[in-house]
Amino acid sequence: MPCETGTEIARAAKLLREGKLVAFATETVYGLGAHALDDRAAAGIFAAKERPAFDPLIVHIAERAQLNELVSEVPDLAVKLADAFWPGPLTMVLPKREIVPDLVTSGLPSVAVRIPAHPIARELLRTAGIPVAAPSANLFGQVSPTTAAHVSEQLGDRIDYILDGGPCTVGLESTVVAITREWVTLLRPGGTPVEVIEEVVGKVMIPEPAGPESDETAQHSPGMLTKHYAPRKPLFIVDDLSQASKKWNPAETGVLLLEESPLTEDFASVESLSPAGDLTEAAMNFFAALRRLDKADIARIVATPFPDQGLGRALNDRLRRASVR
Ligand code: TXA
Ligand code: MG
Repeated sequence: MPCETGTEIARAAKLLREGKLVAFATETVYGLGAHALDDRAAAGIFAAKERPAFDPLIVHIAERAQLNELVSEVPDLAVKLADAFWPGPLTMVLPKREIVPDLVTSGLPSVAVRIPAHPIARELLRTAGIPVAAPSANLFGQVSPTTAAHVSEQLGDRIDYILDGGPCTVGLESTVVAITREWVTLLRPGGTPVEVIEEVVGKVMIPEPAGPESDETAQHSPGMLTKHYAPRKPLFIVDDLSQASKKWNPAETGVLLLEESPLTEDFASVESLSPAGDLTEAAMNFFAALRRLDKADIARIVATPFPDQGLGRALNDRLRRASVR
């Protein structure tokens, strides 16, 4: 039987304090939360998601003051970023304190932390009064959830409560950056565009993407695993839809693209993410559209890339990880 979905913040907070698993809305995607300082509770996240233990979790807090309990150093660059982007879709990786269980960081000496902007998430974190570890509330490697119903579908019978906060407004996971005294390094593109971060701290280091054969970056930031966020249907990235309709039978093919196009006419199902070509709107619709295509009566999905700027970079990153190569 799937667990209850509701809007009772006090109940959700109590469950978290007791070491239970609670999925909750954030502005990016729904998170699967557990008490971050309780080994056993955090272990429950890995079990429910079938997530490998080498993939560390993001710890969510309500207030900046809680950061000092979790990390041993807050470099100036981190202060600047927190001033500019918290609460919001930015996660900072900083040196961890002893109190953070190794399980949460997968044995890494650093911990990923963010303050989410969703008012319900923040109220939950404030009421619970504890840091909450929360990956996206989906089975490992599958499409991230942007509604309570998405969570219920995949994890409903494995967790204790789903705190409904409506559809996520950002729609993509947070941007993850590692911070040292000198550098900010991008570990995962996401809801805060790199260009906007660079306006605050100058040049951001962007490591070479890991090739399909070497998941090397993944050792440092496993959200970078080349195959991730994937639908079950094969997804192909194509530059040109008219070529795609020659290669594949359009009657068996679904299309994911930014703006509507006359070239999609013959395809079996079409998800255009923003009629106005707005990347913010596209990000918000991305994962739900991917899920609909995954369920549609088609054999494959073809997708055209997004403009490679702003949120378009994070969207292209998710497309690549969802695709067949
Ligand atoms: O928007 C989000 O970030 C969502 C919501 C729920 O807040 N959470 C999320 O968590 O996407 P998750 O667990 O799916 O992503 C965690 C990723 C890891 O895969 C890894 O890339 C990075 O964050 N990460 C976490 N801890 C790290 C660490 N100590 N060092 C490097 N990367 C880390
Ligand atoms: Mg995830």
